[in-house]
Amino acid sequence: MGKGAALVTGASSGIGAELARLCAGDGYDLILVARRAGRLRELAASLKASVRCITADLSDSHAPEAIYEDARGVPIDILINNAGIAVRGLFAETDWSAQASLLQINMVAPAHLTRLFLPDMVRRRSGRILNVASTAAFVPGPFMATYYASKAFLLSFSEAIANELKGTGVTATVLCPGPTRTEFFQAAGIEDSNLLQGGNVMAAAEVARIGYRAMMQGKAQVIAGARNRWMMRGARLAPRTMLAEVTRRLNSSGK
Ligand SMILES: NC(=O)c1ccc[n+]([C@@H]2O[C@H](COP(=O)([O-])OP(=O)(O)OC[C@H]3O[C@@H](n4cnc5c(N)ncnc54)[C@H](OP(=O)(O)O)[C@@H]3O)[C@@H](O)[C@H]2O)c1
Repeated sequence: MGKGAALVTGASSGIGAELARLCAGDGYDLILVARRAGRLRELAASLKASVRCITADLSDSHAPEAIYEDARGVPIDILINNAGIAVRGLFAETDWSAQASLLQINMVAPAHLTRLFLPDMVRRRSGRILNVASTAAFVPGPFMATYYASKAFLLSFSEAIANELKGTGVTATVLCPGPTRTEFFQAAGIEDSNLLQGGNVMAAAEVARIGYRAMMQGKAQVIAGARNRWMMRGARLAPRTMLAEVTRRLNSSGK
């Protein structure tokens, strides 16, 4: 019998597309989820795997149930909650509907999809969940307050689930990348961010490889890259008010 299927959200670009490639390379069938159907089809055509594409907008609170229904009958061995967006600006001045979408996509959808797919995995005593958070999860983030807070939610949620799942044959892993070269900054209109200055920007393929390996090893958490690991170790020791000042500078425009 072949392996089951891997469901990847946000598979139309960046880290999600690379994670989908790794799953396909390992012999998993794929269910790819995102809004841009054309990009999903292009990726599907390049993979040597059986692929189903689901066009869904995860800012819609009904999307997780629709995806679950669409995937019914396919045993999902791997669930990768990767889709995510950022909104930049002084919180008091940002558009609430954009903020509400961010909270839905970055927090509610991953929790809802996990709640939908996890019971089947536990019943089969087999399954892996990978949640893509960020090093933003470890620090407060002025000018991107909800993004940083949403990643803190995902980190805490994933680590708690990982503990609950001990002995069930199912694992949950949270991947925390630092700045990574993808369409993320362009999509959020923040290509001028100081985060992209300097030499600490990783390639999406490398970040995906680190996350995929940690998921396969059943690790609860992995930070992508030695430099990011050291920086987050330092962040744990620093006062939160000081961290907020540092991220305020990083989230400002580099121009
Ligand atoms: N790039 C970084 O520096 C960085 C650092 C740390 C963490 N991360 C995290 O990594 C994850 C992947 O981001 P990326 O860097 O690979 O960025 P990306 O290239 O912009 O990919 C984001 C993915 O999310 C999907 N997405 C966005 N809004 C969606 C919606 N409403 N419904 C369904 N799918 C949606 C996009 O697909 P469609 O537009 O086709 O819907 C796309 O496939 C995110 O969770 C992000 O927070 C990124």
